[in-house]
Amino acid sequence: MESSKSARLTVVKLSEDEKSVIILDQTKLPNHEEYITIHDEKRAWDAIKRLEIRGAPAIGVFAGYAMYVLAQQYTDKRYEDFKAEFLRQAEYLDSSRPTAVNLSWALKRQAGVVEKNADKNPAEIAALLGAEAKKIDAENEEMTRKIAEYGVTLVKDGDGILTHCNAGYLACLGYGTATAPIYYGQEKGMTFHVYSDETRPLLQGARLTSYELQKAGVDVTLICDNMASIVMKQGKINAVFVGCDRIAANGDFANKIGTSGVAILAKHYGVPFYTLGPSSTIDFDTPTGDDIHIELRDPEEVKEMWYKEPMALKEVKSYNPSFDVTDHTLVTGIVTERGIVYPPFKENLKKLFNR
Ligand code: MRU
Repeated sequence: MESSKSARLTVVKLSEDEKSVIILDQTKLPNHEEYITIHDEKRAWDAIKRLEIRGAPAIGVFAGYAMYVLAQQYTDKRYEDFKAEFLRQAEYLDSSRPTAVNLSWALKRQAGVVEKNADKNPAEIAALLGAEAKKIDAENEEMTRKIAEYGVTLVKDGDGILTHCNAGYLACLGYGTATAPIYYGQEKGMTFHVYSDETRPLLQGARLTSYELQKAGVDVTLICDNMASIVMKQGKINAVFVGCDRIAANGDFANKIGTSGVAILAKHYGVPFYTLGPSSTIDFDTPTGDDIHIELRDPEEVKEMWYKEPMALKEVKSYNPSFDVTDHTLVTGIVTERGIVYPPFKENLKKLFNR
């Protein structure tokens, strides 16, 4: 059995000459481990849109690197033109997916580098963008470790944990977020029984979570989304750990479609329900979950993707919201790199992050 760390694939990195970003193509997992090399804005936009790179923190890290790679291509411009082109590209990348806040967070952070260094020439600014992208990546990695340390205090050896979608290292790098206590506990000799919802329609739980946990030697059982109730009723689940794409100021949070249903079930069966995410996922400018923009994806994903033949008639309508919002009243706690936040979330999130 491989140790959890050595079993992890590289999800996103710069090429050796730093002129491209290389990503693991997550649409090809679990059957093929293939990488894509990206050095133009359209391909970067497509990579996010098609979920070749996905998961809120990984998208943020990718965006940081992508802006560095792109900016190096027009350092011959004057500062004002360099900045205008940079901001245009950042806005373009930001339009690829609306729900995960980490994308715009990373783009704003890189835009800050351009704006704060107006006295430098574009080649120097591009180098600073490279340094900032590496910093975003390193900080993110460290955040997952801290989330792991806090999260592991919520479970004990032998516990059953249910998760939805993929908030593992493929989505968040490092230890992942929802998986962080699992990997960290494993390093300390603990064992857990993880139930992974398959996560219709794009099957991130089946294709990605069960893949990465299995490869890391974690005891993982794949279930269909509609089986979460029975495993909770049977007493197999001691805690639910899920990730998050945007946490509103009142503690409501958006995560993969189906998460709110899991939270409702957890409340019904008295199972503690936690979301785990770095502070880059908290959006204090979004007051409640009602203010979160929910991505609508191609309805054909529901009817056609992953099936040999379409499993519904062409003319049948389908609806494909990619995320839903879990009401803060269903959440036991929010695990961040600064600690675990308990209700009342609005007050306690502010306190922890000095807002
Ligand atoms: O559409 P995806 O695959 O990018 O969605 C990812 C999720 O919603 C995950 O559940 C996750 O919690 C966000 S990444 C931490």
